[in-house]
Amino acid sequence: MTHGAVPPSVPVLSFPAPHVLRTARLQLRPMRPADADALHAILNDPKVLRYWDTPPWPDVAHAREFIVDEQRALAEGESLTLGIYQDEPPRLIGECLLFALDWDAGRAELGFALAPGAWGCGYLHEAAGALLDYGFDRLQLRRIEAEINVGNAAAARALERLGFQHEGVLRERWAVNGRISDAAFYGLLAREWAARTAA
Ligand SMILES: CC(C)(COP(=O)(O)OP(=O)(O)OC[C@H]1O[C@@H](n2cnc3c(N)ncnc32)[C@H](O)[C@@H]1OP(=O)(O)O)[C@@H](O)C(=O)NCCC(=O)NCCS
Repeated sequence: MTHGAVPPSVPVLSFPAPHVLRTARLQLRPMRPADADALHAILNDPKVLRYWDTPPWPDVAHAREFIVDEQRALAEGESLTLGIYQDEPPRLIGECLLFALDWDAGRAELGFALAPGAWGCGYLHEAAGALLDYGFDRLQLRRIEAEINVGNAAAARALERLGFQHEGVLRERWAVNGRISDAAFYGLLAREWAARTAA
């Protein structure tokens, strides 16, 4: 068997434009290097990182590298990371992303974070709703899943408000800075989202 002659089994698919999504109060779009300061402030905040699966971002350069890497990942069909921009006052208030794409299986994982000043206003609900529409309608995904720390009650509420179902717990899945934690898994199917948005 000649490996070089075997066509790739995984189709290289891409994220159809436009990558700018609008909601009533927000704009979602790929971030630019100029957003690095604002993104770093969010992902270096201990309140945001309390249940996160990585340590705080060390400096603004890390945020800049992340933004550039996500621009590449978008171009290569690997993941779609969008900044969440509030209209009034205009500012970056968070990010949400579809990653761990398995195009063959029609599935992706949802991730999200908001600056603490933007919690409790329904912004994640609005932003994630637009990204789920994009994932199910434009990407034709069959399933979107999310993994959170079992203690992350705000994220669990946000997922359940969006219609995600709690599907199980993986024990001692994470070790961040020596802290071991269990992971809760959530899933939402295209047909469930369609029924919800039609209602
Ligand atoms: C997870 C996280 C994004 C949730 O933020 P949030 O603001 O609670 O989420 P929502 O957008 O769903 O907002 C719902 C809250 O806003 C309130 N709200 C106010 N106006 C609203 C509106 N117009 N529409 C909907 N909800 C509204 C709701 O009552 C609700 O508050 P409650 O949970 O106290 O009942 C936030 O806690 C966070 O960034 N955490 C740190 C990062 C993280 O842990 N991410 C998850 C790992 S992937």
